[in-house]
Amino acid sequence: MSHWEDTLIGTSRSFLQVKSKIPLLSRSRSTVLISGETGTGKELFARAIHYSGERRGKPFVPVNCAALPDHLVENELFGHSKGAFTGALVEKHGLFHEADGGTLFLDEINSLNLPAQSKLLRVLQDQEFRPLGSTKSRAVDVKIVAATNTDLRYLVETRQFREDLFYRLNILSVELPPLRNRQEDIPQLARYFVKHAAEEFGKNVVQLSPDAIKKLVDYAWPGNVRELQGVLHRAIALAMGNVIGCAEIDLPDHEVPRLVGTAVPEMTVSEPGGFQAMKAKVIDEFERAYLSKLLSSHQGNVSQAARAAHKERRAFQRLLHKHGLDRREFSAA
Ligand SMILES: Nc1ncnc2c1ncn2[C@@H]1O[C@H](COP(=O)(O)OP(=O)(O)OP(=O)(O)O)[C@@H](O)[C@H]1O
Ligand SMILES: [Mg+2]
Repeated sequence: MSHWEDTLIGTSRSFLQVKSKIPLLSRSRSTVLISGETGTGKELFARAIHYSGERRGKPFVPVNCAALPDHLVENELFGHSKGAFTGALVEKHGLFHEADGGTLFLDEINSLNLPAQSKLLRVLQDQEFRPLGSTKSRAVDVKIVAATNTDLRYLVETRQFREDLFYRLNILSVELPPLRNRQEDIPQLARYFVKHAAEEFGKNVVQLSPDAIKKLVDYAWPGNVRELQGVLHRAIALAMGNVIGCAEIDLPDHEVPRLVGTAVPEMTVSEPGGFQAMKAKVIDEFERAYLSKLLSSHQGNVSQAARAAHKERRAFQRLLHKHGLDRREFSAA
């Protein structure tokens, strides 16, 4: 078995189904769109797509679109020529240039601003790009793998994301299932993370007790695999003996899991619009409740709340905007 397969832990049907698509996604020249909640393994999958194929000898270049300030997006992606603007003293190569022959991983593509979306669309169509201030286009051979943790279709509907770019990106797509929908993967993932953390902390073989495993399996994991990894890392760091018991598994007691579970029974199944409409409504209510709760427990501090939600500040702010929430209403003053 090659290395990339070893890094993707999980044997549930839904997980194996997406994992089995990797060689095909890697062989195709088309763009791949990976969607999934935060912490489900989107970047790990993007890397597997790159390292399982012919591009593996060339660079894998990750870029987090949410972390790029709007006015720098194009400069970062396409670079600039000398003298393109005041202060452009030397030519700067962009990430497209860096990734030539390899893969450009556009993480949180949902955060890309509209002007940059237009430019990206043009590169995807023409397989060439033009650095800022340059009159000449440059041909590139870059495989694009994009990731999103929000529903791009919703952003298309609300005109925050270009429809033509969405179709272009969505030619090949995979959706990573949330951890709560593949509970059977939890014990195996947990042992994997325990082993790694124990090695990292130079501890002897550490085991999870059966009731510790049960506690992990029963939790809803809103932060998915990353949250599981963090919880076990903490448990191992603090472990005194060789066995991790239930008491050493420290899970947050915020109400997210319960909220997810109870939202449906409160609604009537005769909701007009059927399953899709009801799902959208439940998600909408959940998001609003979650954001409000988080903001109030952080007294309206957006940076802290975003960190607690494992989201980029900008993406988090977009969510607040979507729900018309004003952080000032939650501040202590
Ligand atoms: N199936 C898996 N097997 C082993 N490790 C995994 C698996 N899925 C995720 N991980 C680990 O969990 C962590 C989160 O994964 P990753 O960064 O790929 O998630 P993500 O979907 O990109 O999250 P975000 O949306 O928050 O950026 C990483 O440390 C990754 O190595
Ligand atoms: Mg990621």
